[in-house]
Amino acid sequence: MVRLNVATVLLAVTAVARAVTPDTPSIVPGAYIVEYEEDQDSNAFVNNLGGKASLRKDLRFKLFKGASIQFKDTKNADQMIAKVATMPKIKAVYPVRRYPVPHHVVHSTGDAVEAVLSKRQEGSDTFSTHLMTQVNRFKDKAVTGKGIKIGIIDTGTDYLHPALGGCFGEGCLVSYGTDLVGDKFNGANTPVPDADPLDECNGHGTHVAGIIAAQSNNPYGIVGAAEGVTLGSYRVFGCTGDVGNDILIAAYNMAYEDGSDIITASIGGASGWSEDPWAAVVSRIVDNGVPCVVSAGNDGAAGIFYASTAANGKRVTAIASVDNTVTPALLSNASFSINGTSDFFGFTAGEPGTWDDVSLPLWSVGFDTTDPANGCEPYPDSTPDLSGYIVLVRRGTCAFVDKAANAVAKGAKYVMFYNNVDGTVSVSANVEGVVGVAMVTPEQGEIWVRALEAGSKVVVHMTDPLKAGTFLSSSENTLSGGFLSDFTSWGPTYEVEVKPQFSTPGGLILSTYPRALGSYGVLSGTSMACPMAAAIYALLMTARNTKDAKTLENVLSATARPNVFRLQGKSLPLLAPVAQQGAGLLQAWDAARATTLLSVSSISFNDTDNFNPVQNFSISNTGATAVTYSLSNIGAATAYTFNDEKTISPAAFPNELTGDFASLSFSPNNFTIPAGQRKIITVTATPPKGVNVKRLPVYSGYIAINGSDSSALSLPYLGVAGSMRSVVVLDSKAALISSARDQSNTPVPAGVTFVLPPPGFSNDSSYANRTERPKLVVSLAMGSAVLRADIVPVSNCTTVARTAGVVFGTKTIGQPEGLPALWNPRGRFEYKWDGKLDDGTYAPAGRYKVAVKALRIFGDREEAADYDAAETADFRIRYLPGPSAKFRRQGEGCE
Ligand SMILES: *[C@@H]1O[C@H](CO)[C@@H](O)[C@H](O)[C@H]1NC(C)=O
Ligand SMILES: *[C@@H]1O[C@H](CO)[C@@H](O)[C@H](O)[C@H]1NC(C)=O
Ligand SMILES: *[C@@H]1O[C@H](CO)[C@@H](O)[C@H](O)[C@H]1NC(C)=O
Ligand SMILES: *[C@@H]1O[C@H](CO)[C@@H](O)[C@H](O)[C@H]1NC(C)=O
Ligand SMILES: *[C@@H]1O[C@H](CO)[C@@H](O)[C@H](O)[C@H]1NC(C)=O
Ligand SMILES: *[C@@H]1O[C@H](CO)[C@@H](O)[C@H](O)[C@H]1NC(C)=O
Ligand SMILES: *[C@@H]1O[C@H](CO)[C@@H](O)[C@H](O)[C@H]1NC(C)=O
Ligand SMILES: *[C@@H]1O[C@H](CO)[C@@H](O)[C@H](O)[C@H]1NC(C)=O
Ligand SMILES: *[C@@H]1O[C@H](CO)[C@@H](O)[C@H](O)[C@H]1NC(C)=O
Repeated sequence: MVRLNVATVLLAVTAVARAVTPDTPSIVPGAYIVEYEEDQDSNAFVNNLGGKASLRKDLRFKLFKGASIQFKDTKNADQMIAKVATMPKIKAVYPVRRYPVPHHVVHSTGDAVEAVLSKRQEGSDTFSTHLMTQVNRFKDKAVTGKGIKIGIIDTGTDYLHPALGGCFGEGCLVSYGTDLVGDKFNGANTPVPDADPLDECNGHGTHVAGIIAAQSNNPYGIVGAAEGVTLGSYRVFGCTGDVGNDILIAAYNMAYEDGSDIITASIGGASGWSEDPWAAVVSRIVDNGVPCVVSAGNDGAAGIFYASTAANGKRVTAIASVDNTVTPALLSNASFSINGTSDFFGFTAGEPGTWDDVSLPLWSVGFDTTDPANGCEPYPDSTPDLSGYIVLVRRGTCAFVDKAANAVAKGAKYVMFYNNVDGTVSVSANVEGVVGVAMVTPEQGEIWVRALEAGSKVVVHMTDPLKAGTFLSSSENTLSGGFLSDFTSWGPTYEVEVKPQFSTPGGLILSTYPRALGSYGVLSGTSMACPMAAAIYALLMTARNTKDAKTLENVLSATARPNVFRLQGKSLPLLAPVAQQGAGLLQAWDAARATTLLSVSSISFNDTDNFNPVQNFSISNTGATAVTYSLSNIGAATAYTFNDEKTISPAAFPNELTGDFASLSFSPNNFTIPAGQRKIITVTATPPKGVNVKRLPVYSGYIAINGSDSSALSLPYLGVAGSMRSVVVLDSKAALISSARDQSNTPVPAGVTFVLPPPGFSNDSSYANRTERPKLVVSLAMGSAVLRADIVPVSNCTTVARTAGVVFGTKTIGQPEGLPALWNPRGRFEYKWDGKLDDGTYAPAGRYKVAVKALRIFGDREEAADYDAAETADFRIRYLPGPSAKFRRQGEGCE
């Protein structure tokens, strides 16, 4: 048995294993989604609320009947929604949460106005991501997804782009859809819908659309994986900002009702809980037969157990990312000369990017092209005045702004970075004094450094990137091509549901981009992987002549190809965990031709408390002849959640991996299935022995099903060799009080007094200078379904004592309004308190501390013992006098 400590081996190689504590998706104050028991008129429903709320969005669909509403008095909204929840015919209420456009990397964009034509050979598809997924084989057979409708929920589509059909409406490539929000929508303001989902200002959705269906009339040989499909474009983001889950729920239902055969969304936020309302709606659509693929998330750096919603919904297909086997870069054309001999080169302009007609000699920070921290230290005194040069510096270690600042200190105005990995990225280095930054490939940097070292004079003639010609440079990606992208988020959910489902290429993807932003772009993210999976579903619908979500997911999973774990260019002799890659990289052609079908797409054995070791699945032989199958177990790397027995926060990427595998037995394990017959297989699992269960090992692997017809399928499984219930979700010291103004969350000394605005005036800016609110900061080590924060009086004042009750053994006057918070991801939770409590009253002036309680995973929310607790230091609050006695009385108390 292989046993190696991957984390320590590889940490020596990587200098950057940063801990990540992303913030919870934010909640829109006073906004709620209400789900009705049965259909009713939303305007009448809102009118019945006595003018207290307005209708945000009517959400009356076949699969979801309800509305989102906005209470005018956001301060009293939670009381009012509590009343709504008890009204007859109301099924459920949920807060409106906001989600951002996923953070993705823009490597380069380019305009094709004067591009060099490198058109692929007619009839053969050699696009690298298609070769990786066998999509090219469908092209040879002229299967393009014709007649299949894919609904895309994103930033809209630049359908006027020549490679995206050039029109919108019937007969066009983008034939249906709508704009639910308008350009100016930012997630917090009122959406202004219109019928036109054009994407001119964002780009994300236009890139996604091209991955599915770019037409081949473009200069770079880009072709959509299923270029015969019809697209529906549902625009849910404005030019910048977030989207609320009410809009997402509406968009999904519209895409469903408009007859989409597949719905794809490259959107998400940290969660880890499948109960989130948006995820629940997507699950419902899948249950009605329509496959929904959602990007798994780009939080790979956070390590294991970091699933994102709505990808983490039950039966929702979460798509992980692998890196492209080639590194494409769209470079702007410029020229240089060495001792007077000219040549041209490509660059990616950064920010700032004022490069028009700049013609200057190069000056390099040393001649070592392997220097890991080139230009990170201030330059020596002997450095000449650099105002007449372009400074050449290698990427790495310190930030681009630090490198630029060191150049500026010697007078430089222009900085040219050369990359330390394949390709280029668009750099931002806004440092005072810098007017132009750009990046070139490592190869170009090498050419220049060697020339300078030899004493040659190198002069660079730059061009305005907006006017320069563009060319595509492609190099083989030897570092990570074909392996899991470092950024891809890891599952499973906190309730041990298998996530992600499978992977497709999402790292370093060349596709269409809005005409106004360069027409073509190279982007990275699970956002780019997800549409490839959607396109593959479309090809399979044609090839297998079925649209059923479950059938297609099962066959895609069974035929996907698991890969080994690789980091920083080094591969391990172990398969990457299912929590990272799901079933593996999709192999579309194998999926189209498979005649052996499985009844499931994955198996979870749960944790040891809820261990479900004996499970059944069926194998169907739909071929024309009898097949003899043999079953075996191929273990994937077991990943430790915690670095040691004492730490309670999961390790950041890469989690330590071991070669301790679960053992599986099969009954039967070697058998023949006649043509057209089915057999039930019982699998029995034994978790890996010799692992440290206190460090919460997550084991996984694949059930290999090899047939005498040379079929070779694999079924992913996963389980936790430990108890989720005994995982500490909250350290007893992980709650503190800081000032709402303090972005670094430094705890205030015990006993500090916060002077609050008068009750009811917390959003009145005229009090801002004279007041300061306490901020509750809680660090959740693991996800928690319920987070309470009880306000505990520590003064003996009668006003306070009168209002106190006891909850779970804690004396409390209530929780801050809006709490408890449900379905929390791990990481930092922040709450700025203005004194308002969940019953709508204000806490009397006085001394308090906050008792925080977080429910353990699989805990009983009625059981005090199932919560982890933490307490803040005590602090005092008092209120400024209000404009009238009415307000003053509300916050009266004692000091
Ligand atoms: C360019 O000129 C310098 C100085 O005359 C010389 O040292 C160098 O070798 C020349 N480089 C090339 C490539 O000829
Ligand atoms: C780049 O510029 C060179 C001249 O400097 C020219 O010969 C070449 O055609 C240009 N390429 C593109 C793609 O514009
Ligand atoms: C694991 O067990 C718990 C408790 O029974 C259950 O709530 C959860 O859904 C199970 N997870 C899976 C993937 O079956
Ligand atoms: C699995 O299948 C076997 C044989 O058909 C059956 O006896 C058993 O009850 C099944 N077990 C489960 C957990 O469904
Ligand atoms: C399965 O059974 C067949 C027939 O009994 C035998 O020839 C074959 O070797 C077995 N395969 C395995 C992997 O046990
Ligand atoms: C089953 O097929 C896979 C893939 O071809 C192969 O790696 C594996 O060794 C095979 N297993 C058996 C037991 O033949
Ligand atoms: C405070 O918020 C309420 C509700 O959103 C709003 O009606 C009121 O105008 C706000 N007051 C100020 C001073 O901004
Ligand atoms: C708040 O402070 C700023 C800066 O000191 C000042 O310009 C402003 O007038 C003050 N506002 C109030 C309401 O006191
Ligand atoms: C409150 O009163 C109790 C009993 O009278 C006393 O023990 C305690 O120290 C007092 N606490 C404070 C904070 O004054």
